[in-house]
Amino acid sequence: MNEEEKTQHIVLIGFMGCGKSTIGAELRRMLGYRLIDMDSEIEKRAGCRIVELFAREGEAGFRAREHALLQELGKIGKAPMIISTGGGVVLLPENRCLLPQLGYVVWLKADAALIYERTRRSRSRPILQCDNPRERIRVLLEERTPLYRECAHLSIDVGGLNKSEIASGIIDSARYHFSQPLAG
Ligand code: S3P
Repeated sequence: MNEEEKTQHIVLIGFMGCGKSTIGAELRRMLGYRLIDMDSEIEKRAGCRIVELFAREGEAGFRAREHALLQELGKIGKAPMIISTGGGVVLLPENRCLLPQLGYVVWLKADAALIYERTRRSRSRPILQCDNPRERIRVLLEERTPLYRECAHLSIDVGGLNKSEIASGIIDSARYHFSQPLAG
């Protein structure tokens, strides 16, 4: 992709429960950009919830849909968008290559204890529907941390910050990154 073709989206990555959807919505409110929540878009296209999709097509089926959507997002025009990804988007090396080409990649981070607190009542995350979700979070976080690091331009520890503080920080850093004012 040459400089002319590069898009200036804000792309949120990070583990489940780190607030990607919430911060995506706050950025949309503050900037007025279109928001693509990849999980919701995949559910819309599949006509079912992610848990059901995992049961029907397995994790591999979900990952294939996730990858296809990410590729598509790189081609749908230059108007800046906010893209909120699913926590496992960084697992495929092709995705890790695509993400920074889409725009400014922001990694929302939290520690395992906070992630557990935020996700323990959710039944919508098949990856955490297991006997010991606390241990699962610990192991996956360890595996995925270097992958998030590999493709992020910025990382923000979300613990102790509210959504407007996080979103404002992202906007300021994105402005600096793109070296031009963001509309909105
Ligand atoms: C997943 C995270 C989920 C969703 C799917 C798989 C993961 O998204 O994409 O359940 O592997 O971490 P959130 O991070 O929005 O919960």
